[in-house]
Amino acid sequence: MISSGYDFDTRIDRSGTNCEKWDDIESVFGKEGLMPFWVADMDFKSAPEIVDTLRQKLEFGVFGYPTEQIGKYQAVVANWESKRHGWKISPDDVGFMPGVITGLSVAICEFTEPGDGIVIQPPIYPPFFREIRHNGRTVVENPLMETENGYAMDLDNLREALKPGVSALILCSPHNPVSRVWGLQELAELGQICLERGVTVICDEIHQDIVFSDAKHIPLSLACPKLDEKLVTFISPSKTFNLAGLRASAWIARDKKIADRMRRALNRFHLSGLNMFGLAALEAAYTKGEAWLDAALAYLEKNRGLVERFIREKMPRVKLRHPEGTYIFWLDFRDYGLKNPELMDILINKAGVALNDGASFGEGGKGFVRLNVGCPRTQLEDGLKRIAEAFGNLEGNRS
Ligand SMILES: Cc1ncc(COP(=O)(O)O)c(C=O)c1O
Repeated sequence: MISSGYDFDTRIDRSGTNCEKWDDIESVFGKEGLMPFWVADMDFKSAPEIVDTLRQKLEFGVFGYPTEQIGKYQAVVANWESKRHGWKISPDDVGFMPGVITGLSVAICEFTEPGDGIVIQPPIYPPFFREIRHNGRTVVENPLMETENGYAMDLDNLREALKPGVSALILCSPHNPVSRVWGLQELAELGQICLERGVTVICDEIHQDIVFSDAKHIPLSLACPKLDEKLVTFISPSKTFNLAGLRASAWIARDKKIADRMRRALNRFHLSGLNMFGLAALEAAYTKGEAWLDAALAYLEKNRGLVERFIREKMPRVKLRHPEGTYIFWLDFRDYGLKNPELMDILINKAGVALNDGASFGEGGKGFVRLNVGCPRTQLEDGLKRIAEAFGNLEGNRS
């Protein structure tokens, strides 16, 4: 422990708590007892400031309808964006929905037509493919490029991809799974291209707050202010404060027409109201959570250092581009020449760990897996050792 006063070191056994990351392992990976490094939540307790707020709510014991006067919560979100990201928005630009994927899906339906193309940039968070297809739209891929300096958006190809019939682009910023925190220039250029082509940008900034000290998150709206007339952005305290189970997220649209359309589209299905615990947690997170978050970021950054060192020293055939943000890292096992099912077989059956299969992230995922480092350091070390031993044995067997 614990120079910050917050405890990220205690290992918490979450099994038997109806938790996807721990309790769904057997049904997803076909084997029980694996160490979980997959679903993107953290094996830490949330900020004590948030837990105390929720405890008071719980002990009050009356769980009737929460207020519909959401001005206070809109202001809390606006204040957070200003304080943490320098993004000055009005409380009126903010609305709520249970999850970012809910909002994304509603935006797809509201701002595009059935059959339209929507651009995404694989490798990418798999639900982007799913939500486009579920809503009867077509996936148009603009794969990321691997350059000497890391992953980059292929903006020349984007110009090609934005043909007539393509009406939106979904941006992931910071990018899951490659851990890029996009820079000002590339965001501004992307915004400009989308503006010229008249496409709506659905911008998923759920990972906005998990950014390491050598990078800086820039909201797309700040990088390209003119794009506001075609932009809706999604954020949430869920990744930042480990609150995903409370289902509280927010959209931000600076353009009144876009904001009105988002509000109406969500209201059509009564999706704007959050549950009282979600609302309370969101408020506590954004008003009392900063010290915890700064401590969590410092902890996660040390986990990043550990993973980078470990890979360099013990698994030099694995490559990891320096992660700039998020707590999910994109490990490149291509040097082993294995197909993804073989890679997963070794991780599951030899190493006893559950990581996400890179193939599920689309183009560019072959030979990759995604590792969640949002856990106590000893847990991470144990997982890494298991992986190194499994692959060490593999090399031993083959030589
Ligand atoms: C980029 C991205 N968007 C959305 C989500 C999920 O958001 P929600 O649970 O609010 O629907 C995740 C979770 O991993 C994510 O990584």
